[in-house]
Amino acid sequence: MKNLIKAIKEARRVGVLTGAGISTLCGIPDFRGPQGLYKQKDAEKIFDIDWFDRDPSIYYRGCAELVYGLEKFTPGPVHKALVSMEKAGCLEGIATQNIDMLHQKAGSKNVYEVHGSPILHHCRWCADEKKFEEICEMLRRGGEGFIPRCKCGGAYKPDITFFGEALPEKAFTRAQALAISSDVFIVLGTSLSVFPAAGLPRLTLQAGGKVFIVNAQPTPLDDYAAARYDDLAAFAQAILEEFGE
Ligand code: OAD
Repeated sequence: MKNLIKAIKEARRVGVLTGAGISTLCGIPDFRGPQGLYKQKDAEKIFDIDWFDRDPSIYYRGCAELVYGLEKFTPGPVHKALVSMEKAGCLEGIATQNIDMLHQKAGSKNVYEVHGSPILHHCRWCADEKKFEEICEMLRRGGEGFIPRCKCGGAYKPDITFFGEALPEKAFTRAQALAISSDVFIVLGTSLSVFPAAGLPRLTLQAGGKVFIVNAQPTPLDDYAAARYDDLAAFAQAILEEFGE
C-alpha cells in the first residue's frame, strides 16, 4: 500500500467511491460477493421499481433484516480510515453507493449518497413523507408480512434508488464533480457493475487522474488502475497507521 499512501499525500485532491464491500467488515452482506444478497431467489426483484409497485412485499420481505436492522450495525475499519483521511485534510469527499448510512455514523462530512438512503420514505401515491424511525416502528408493530402504508393506501418506499429510477440528481452531480476534479480517486469494495455510479472512476481517468482499486473480486477497470489491491482491511490499517485514528 506504500504507493497508494504516497499518491494520497502527493495529490491535490483525493476522492473516494465506496460500495457494499466496505460494509462486509461490519457484518452487512454485499450484493455480488460469494455470500452476497443477490445469491437468494428472486433477489433482482427486491430493488426494482416495477416490482415494488406491483408487490411491495417483495422489498419488505427481502430487506426486513438488512435495511430495517441497520441500527444495530456500527462503522467498520474502512469507514473509520476515511474519517481519519478527511480530518487530516487528505480527502475531498466520498461518493457512496451504500444505503447503510455508516459513513455519516462514522463522522465523515462530505458524503454523496448516489443510490439514496432509507433515511426518508415517501408514499408512492401521494408522496407523504415518513422518517426511517417511523417506518421501523410501523414494521415492529405490524409484525411479519406487514407493509407500511399511508392513510391514502399507497405503500411507503424508501428513498433508495431502485432499478428503473433516476439517481438523486444533486448527490450524483456532486459525485461527478468529485470524480472529475480528483487527481487520485480510490475505489473501495465495489464490483463496478451498476451504472451510472460505476462510471465515476472513468471520469477521473478521462480527466487525467489516477484510479486505485481495493476489491477482492476483479472489476472491469482493473487494467486501467494505477494499482489494485484485494484486501480492504489491509487498506484501512495502512490508512489508520498513516493518518491516525
Ligand atoms: P457488490 O456486491 O456488487 O460488490 C461488492 C464488492 O466488494 C465485491 O466485488 C466483493 O468482492 C468486494 N468485497 C466484499 N468484501 C470485501 C473485503 N472484505 N475486502 C475486499 N473486497 C471485498 O456491491 P456494489 O458494487 O456496492 O444498488 O453494488 C452496487 C449496487 O448494486 C448497490 O448499490 C445496490 C446493488 O443493486 C442499490 O441498492 C440501489
